[in-house]
Amino acid sequence: MDMGIAGRKALLTGASKGMGRACAFALAQEGVSLTIVARGLDALEHTAADIRTETGAEVAIVSADVTTPGGRAAALSACPEPDILLNNAGGMKPGDFRDHDRDTWIEALDLMMLAPIEMIRATFDGMVARGFGRIVNITSRGVKIPHAELSLSNGARTGLVGFCAGIARLGVAHDVTINNILPGIVDSDGQRQHVETLAKAGGTSFEDIWATRAAKSPAKRFGRPEEIGALFAFLASAHAGLMTGQSILMDGGDYPGTL
Ligand SMILES: NC(=O)c1ccc[n+]([C@@H]2O[C@H](COP(=O)([O-])OP(=O)(O)OC[C@H]3O[C@@H](n4cnc5c(N)ncnc54)[C@H](OP(=O)(O)O)[C@@H]3O)[C@@H](O)[C@H]2O)c1
Repeated sequence: MDMGIAGRKALLTGASKGMGRACAFALAQEGVSLTIVARGLDALEHTAADIRTETGAEVAIVSADVTTPGGRAAALSACPEPDILLNNAGGMKPGDFRDHDRDTWIEALDLMMLAPIEMIRATFDGMVARGFGRIVNITSRGVKIPHAELSLSNGARTGLVGFCAGIARLGVAHDVTINNILPGIVDSDGQRQHVETLAKAGGTSFEDIWATRAAKSPAKRFGRPEEIGALFAFLASAHAGLMTGQSILMDGGDYPGTL
């Protein structure tokens, strides 16, 4: 299926590894020019080289932290008029809500809510004026399946989804949409790092933890970053202009509800 976005420009944050990298690949395969953003330069260069070699797409890289005004300004100066914006970055460590003070909450909000809102604020009106825009946030299944130890993520990400729900109708008449992807467990660089840390801390092997976590999913496996990338490419496509304000789970059926 041709996504109808060849020649478009995309700005993707958190795109050197994991799901963000897969999203970048998915757009590159559609002939989109990319600007990919992350903090670490090595992984950015590596990912950009892989994308160029495999797809021939144009890829610019920006080493920047999206939680800072300077980092966002650098990203936007490299791609001032994106047609497609992916808001993605990292997460916060699990923990007991009693241990999360105001500073910890501000850090979580900056990462998972305020940075994406600032990126939307900087790009939304331009998309409306140009008559096309696709904004997609990678959040988490935690928006629909909140776990107690992930309270920072539950709070901050639900705040972002609520903000987007409120503004998602403002652009749709101009072919500008805003949607959220809610991944379940995905076999990403970040997930592997997380399981390695659990294994070191708990004396259980990486393989045992990995297998136990996979077995808990109705799908009996982790998601693949490419699956998230394919969903992102559809949400970014010319065909998805009537979809806005939606939060789409891709979690192997883990969420047990009807709607
Ligand atoms: N994997 C899962 O199972 C899962 C499930 C639900 C939700 N999520 C959430 O989905 C998002 C992506 O997860 P992932 O597993 O694909 O992560 P990942 O493999 O760790 O990749 C995260 C990407 O974001 C970049 N990044 C992190 N912090 C950044 C910052 N402040 N500014 C700019 N770039 C930043 C990282 O590069 P640098 O570190 O070099 O900056 C990397 O490119 C995260 O928010 C995660 O919490 C993941």
